[in-house]
Amino acid sequence: MLSVAGPHEKLLIGRDAHKSVVSGLILSGIKPVWVEPRWDARRHLAHPPAAEGFEAAFHAHPDAKGALVTSPTPYGSCAELRAIAEVCHRRSVPLVVDEAWGAHLPFHPDLPTWAMDAGADICVTSIHKMGSGLEQGSVFHLRGDLVPPELLKMRADLLGSTSPSVLTYAGLDGWRRQMALHGTELMGAALDLAAEVRAAVEEIDGMHVQGREDFCGPGLADDFDPLPVIIDIGGLGVTGFRAADWLREQRGLDAHLVDHRRIGAQITHGDDRQTTGELLAALKDLARAAPGLGPGPRVDVPSPSELRMTQAGLPRDAFFGPTENVPTRDAAGRVSAEMVTPYPPGIPAVVPGERLTEPVLRYLRTGLEAGMYLPDPSDPEFETIKVVAAGEGAAE
Ligand SMILES: Cc1ncc(COP(=O)(O)O)c(C=O)c1O
Repeated sequence: MLSVAGPHEKLLIGRDAHKSVVSGLILSGIKPVWVEPRWDARRHLAHPPAAEGFEAAFHAHPDAKGALVTSPTPYGSCAELRAIAEVCHRRSVPLVVDEAWGAHLPFHPDLPTWAMDAGADICVTSIHKMGSGLEQGSVFHLRGDLVPPELLKMRADLLGSTSPSVLTYAGLDGWRRQMALHGTELMGAALDLAAEVRAAVEEIDGMHVQGREDFCGPGLADDFDPLPVIIDIGGLGVTGFRAADWLREQRGLDAHLVDHRRIGAQITHGDDRQTTGELLAALKDLARAAPGLGPGPRVDVPSPSELRMTQAGLPRDAFFGPTENVPTRDAAGRVSAEMVTPYPPGIPAVVPGERLTEPVLRYLRTGLEAGMYLPDPSDPEFETIKVVAAGEGAAE
C-alpha cells in the first residue's frame, strides 16, 4: 500500500479488507475509497468486489492511485483478478492483492489462479497460513513496471525489522524448495482429502458444507478454493461461537474460522487421513452434543446495507486526533476513533473515521454476548468506545 499511495492520496479498497490493511491506512494516512463487496444477504457472507465495482469507483475517483482487493477471502471465495487488473491497467495504476490465504495457489492447476498469473502488480502472501512457513513468514511478489522495485524496497524498509529472523527466512526457503520439488503432488493430495472431508461432513445431520454452488455465480464470487471447508451449522441450532468453544474444550480442536452460523476447517498439505479422521469424529460428536448446548444468545446480524457506515474522515486523523470514550449505547452518530474487529475472520466492522450506527453497534454488542472475539477495542467489554472528541469532526 505504501508503495502505491501516500498521505491523503486515494486507494480503492474492497471493504472486506483485513484489519492489517486498515492498520496500513492508519499508519500511512492514505484515504480509502471503499468498494462494496458482493454481499450474499441470505448466507450473511461477503465475497470480493466485482471488477465493475472497481470500474465505477475509478470513474468517481479518477485520481485514485491504485486498487487493493482481498482474494481469496478467509472463506475461500475469489475475485476475478484478471478483470480487476485490466480495470487498473487501463488507467496505468497498479493492483495490489491481499493474497494472505493463497500461498498454495500457484502449485496446482485445479486451484484458483494466483495474483501474479492474473496480472496483478503486487501481492502479499502469508506463507504461514496455507504454506509451511513459520508464523510471520509473509512475502510479497512484484511484477510489471507500475511499481518500481527500488521504491517498493525503500518503502518496505520502513516496516521491516533490522533484526530479521533467520528461522523465518529458513522456513520460507524450506517451503519454496518443498513446493518446487513436490508442490503439485502435495496440493493434489490436499485437494483429494478436502473433497473427501467435504462429502463426509455433508452427511452429518445439521451441517452443510458451503461449496462452489453456494459461493460462485452471478452477484457472488468468481472462483473458489475448496481447501477451506466452511460448514454452515445453522441446522444444529447453535452458533458457530458455541460450537467452536465446544470443539476446543472437548476435543482439543481449533476451528479456523468462526462466525455466528459457521465454523471452518482448513485442510492443507499438512493433513492426512489421521487428522481428517479426528476432525470428522469431533464434528459427529458435536452434532450429537448440540441439542444439549442450547442455542446461546442470538446475534443481531445487520443487513448488508445496515453494515455499511459513512467514512467521515481519514482513518489516521480519527485515530490520532483528540478522542473521548462514550458508552457504546450512546455512540450512534459519533465518529469512531478505533477499530473493532470480529476475529476471525478479522475484517473490521468499525474503521476509525467511520460514523457509527446503531445496527453495527448492536451487532457487536450481541456478538460479544454470544461469544464473538473482539481483540482490538480499547474497552474489552465494549461498554464504551473511543470516538473523535465532540467538536473536533474528523478532518478530510
Ligand atoms: C485476509 C488477510 N490479510 C492479511 C492478514 C494478515 O496476515 P499476517 O497474519 O501474515 O500478518 C490476514 C491474517 O489473518 C488475513 O486473513
